[in-house]
Amino acid sequence: MIAMTRETAARLRKIPPYLFADIEARVRAKMAQGVDIIDFGIGDPDLPTPNEIVEELAKQAKSPGNNQYSTSSGEEETREAVAEWYERRFNVRLDPEKEVVITMGSKEGLIDFCRGFVDPGDRVLVPDPSYPVYAQGGTLLSEGVPVRVPLLPEKSFLMDLRSIPTGCKIVFVNYPNNPTAAVATRDYLKELVKWGRGTGTIVCYDNAYSEMTFDGYVAPSILEYGRDCIEFGSLSKTFNMTGYRIGYAVGDPDLISGLKKVKSQVDSGVPKFIQKAAVFAFGMYKDGGRPPVVEKNVAIYKERRDVAVAGLSRMGFSVNPPLGTFYLWFNCNEESMDFARKLLDAGVVVTPGIGFGEHGEGFVRMSLTQPVKRIEEALERIEKVLSSPA
Ligand SMILES: Cc1ncc(COP(=O)(O)O)c(C=O)c1O
Repeated sequence: MIAMTRETAARLRKIPPYLFADIEARVRAKMAQGVDIIDFGIGDPDLPTPNEIVEELAKQAKSPGNNQYSTSSGEEETREAVAEWYERRFNVRLDPEKEVVITMGSKEGLIDFCRGFVDPGDRVLVPDPSYPVYAQGGTLLSEGVPVRVPLLPEKSFLMDLRSIPTGCKIVFVNYPNNPTAAVATRDYLKELVKWGRGTGTIVCYDNAYSEMTFDGYVAPSILEYGRDCIEFGSLSKTFNMTGYRIGYAVGDPDLISGLKKVKSQVDSGVPKFIQKAAVFAFGMYKDGGRPPVVEKNVAIYKERRDVAVAGLSRMGFSVNPPLGTFYLWFNCNEESMDFARKLLDAGVVVTPGIGFGEHGEGFVRMSLTQPVKRIEEALERIEKVLSSPA
């Protein structure tokens, strides 16, 4: 008899151990002790999906035929809704057949895109800090090699295009940015597209937070500057639909076609009733401007942002109100894991910046997914714990 090996594949073993396991275990232990936890850890909206969308979903779930398989690329109607939205919102015209694919959230799309375009050993440019999926589920699971590019505060958390390594297959770029909450200027994106062309690097733009912006800032699409890129987006944050698992990829027909080919081997499409709810949601953008349900959400996040920024500034942290995302990213003046543990002693959860890459060290991310009252309470607790002797 030959012993069965249960060893996972080498590519899976390359995924680093989960950095937050220790923090999460401490949170669970605190909760078991009955400690009231205020959690700013996960980037998952606490606000409900707008009622109109939920009602459409319920109606569509009851409709005969919507129980059956969709297609892995998404229903024609959904791709058309994305294309119409791009035209209204970004003034970008897309062919729904060749330039749009529906994904099971942008996370799945990003990972399957890497499966389609990264060969073993290919180098992939990954911002540092960044959403961990680019380096891990994306690049490493496709046996590529992540090449880290620092996002530094003195460079406004933008990659320095004059010093990015060349000879890479893909560059991941994400603005409004998780975790730094930075946004990119239109000039920067123009230069980025030019840089991608000049170096033969695929620009993969993650626009998951395009609708979550403040103070009059309107986030662009990379496709406004070049059609030879791929852009990912999602209904998760725009409409508080993280659990629905629906997003989209748009752009260069060859890049979309490769992603579609992977998806045809992997999934059978987002459930039809969810796609129909998404079509309804896109339809709320009548003239390209944000519909009232999105404006309402954004106003809530803005108020939270302002309360948190004011409180942290009073404590002496250097934090400016960001123009996008529902994150605050600030220098905590010590090792981020130590700072997070200290706050946890006061029942407040924040994410240590080191979890997003080595250049995230010294920073923490606070996800503003708590009501103002809880933010105020958390600020009081933070102030107290930081002023008490160690
Ligand atoms: C930058 C970024 N991209 C993509 C995603 C994935 O979102 P989803 O898969 O829900 O569309 C997230 C989620 O937090 C994110 O922060």
